[in-house]
Amino acid sequence: MYSKQKPYNKIGFVDSGLGGLTVFKKVKKLMPNKEYIYFADSANVPYGSKTREQMIKISENIVRFFNEQQIDLLVVACNTLTSIALSHMRSIANFDIIGVVEYGVKSALQTTSNKKVGVIATKATVDNGLYKKLLEQNDIEVCQSACLDFVGFVEEDCKDKEKILKKVEEYLKPIVEFGADTIILGCTHYPILIEYLKEYTGENITFVDPADSLSEDIYEICGNYQNKCDIKYYVTKNPSDFKINGSKIIGEPIENVTEME
Ligand code: DGL
Repeated sequence: MYSKQKPYNKIGFVDSGLGGLTVFKKVKKLMPNKEYIYFADSANVPYGSKTREQMIKISENIVRFFNEQQIDLLVVACNTLTSIALSHMRSIANFDIIGVVEYGVKSALQTTSNKKVGVIATKATVDNGLYKKLLEQNDIEVCQSACLDFVGFVEEDCKDKEKILKKVEEYLKPIVEFGADTIILGCTHYPILIEYLKEYTGENITFVDPADSLSEDIYEICGNYQNKCDIKYYVTKNPSDFKINGSKIIGEPIENVTEME
């Protein structure tokens, strides 16, 4: 289990593609001197339209990969994978694992005043309902919205503002009408679209990114004790797209990318 005693020097991150970099970036900012392995499962993106059975199989391949890499801790930087497969992954992994969902819930509980929270996420995360369940256990009213096109906008580096804003309105309107004062960015790709989201909602709604409390928590546990940074990236498809688009997200060149079979 996740332990507040361990040093966790070798840390893995996994997502279907670029989204997990929004989490990795925040962790790396607090702890620049660690050994990191980022795994982008680009051959299987989007996870959000996969079935539970498909995701369980994918999760087993991911754990096998990280078992071989002998990491200390895995950050599941993907809400879909966290919602569906976290406990299964924990049961077969040789390392500790944390996911993003509990941090999204924690931050939303601290942020909301009217106890009405919106969750925007992939279809698979919305259908799974983990966010809804955990929030409702804390007497929060929840309105969820599956934002089907958002992951594609990010992966393709879409800059068509009109097209994006049209979809933002379609997906967020029910949450605005519901009266939420807080929206959880329940997919790690979505922080990249934050300007479009805020342009639609205005100032009255606060967006929470689970990566903020997650990165603070990891920092508290691991600290930045090592004196060197080592980052390796693994992708299952399109390494050059990952390098180009990923560098923009993380704000520095991405090197050391290996394409997996
Ligand atoms: N970024 C992931 C998430 O947080 C997965 C997006 C996808 O591949 O559909 O859910």
